[in-house]
Amino acid sequence: MHTLHFTADSDKAARYREILPQIAAVIADEPNLTANLANTAAILKEAFDWLWVGFYLVESGSNTLVLAPFQGPLACTRIPYGRGVCGQVWAKGETMVVADVNAHPDHIACSSLSQSEIVVPLFDAQGRCFGVLDADDDKLAQFDDTDAHYLGELVQLLGKCTDKAI
Ligand code: SME
Repeated sequence: MHTLHFTADSDKAARYREILPQIAAVIADEPNLTANLANTAAILKEAFDWLWVGFYLVESGSNTLVLAPFQGPLACTRIPYGRGVCGQVWAKGETMVVADVNAHPDHIACSSLSQSEIVVPLFDAQGRCFGVLDADDDKLAQFDDTDAHYLGELVQLLGKCTDKAI
């Protein structure tokens, strides 16, 4: 059994440095992508208590992202290629940090409580984008370069397990 450990009141970067090895340990011996995404979403939610954190995965053949494991309120299930922040990140293959979702063109509001967002692309071992990690918070400007950096490290860990999973 795994129990998450992190230091109370640690700053954001320190908390990422504490949880990343724990996520690596949890997913290390598990080849199933759904299981690994589910535990990763749970760990991020417990560590940061964002409004919503989870994944959308590319559905092969449909040009659509489909909702995958997440923690938080009910979310929209399908996002077309290039639409919303998630679809734009899929199209560009680059992380996007949105300080104010209400000021962002073509943001898809799954919850009216969401104020800021970060979306990070997931790449498989062959370098193909197979989905995105999405985190939303009910405070403005909750995400910055620190989140982009450490969530970038996290998705590399997840990408490594996909050659066994899909
Ligand atoms: N805001 C996202 C949609 C997903 S929900 O926030 C969970 C977007 O604009 O793509």
